[in-house]
Amino acid sequence: MRILILNGPNLNLLGQREPEIYGRETLRDIELLCEGRAEELGIEIACVQSNSEGALVDALHAHRDWDGVVINAAAYTHTSLAIADAIAAIQVPTVEVHLSNVHAREAVRHTSLISPVVWGQVSGFGYRGYLAALDLLHSRLSELE
Ligand code: DQA
Repeated sequence: MRILILNGPNLNLLGQREPEIYGRETLRDIELLCEGRAEELGIEIACVQSNSEGALVDALHAHRDWDGVVINAAAYTHTSLAIADAIAAIQVPTVEVHLSNVHAREAVRHTSLISPVVWGQVSGFGYRGYLAALDLLHSRLSELE
């Protein structure tokens, strides 16, 4: 089983970026935690981060024969029809993750263009959301095998 962990704009600054909202872990910390969990689950992951919408779309296309995607599209969550279309196009089971509880924040963050095309969303649990998303995808994909 192969799962892509895809992170969008400004998440490369995790650790320094508004830690009271996004936590103190760096993106590398989160990726290492995901690698540890992947090893426990016996699955392969790849971690990609980009600040560019097109590069995120390209990464989704490049992994279209993989089994799952965990995506934190960051601000593009609320604006990017292109990323939502890419997820719908590749038809790879996807879980949407947000470190913060987007529903408890500004109204502009309450809308996700991605939510209609994913299996589900994990929001508000910091870095743990990525681990939960990996567990959830692994467990549901295993049931479908
Ligand atoms: C975020 C929430 C988004 O609204 C925001 O633009 C981000 C990060 C989160 O992980 O909480 O950059 O996706």
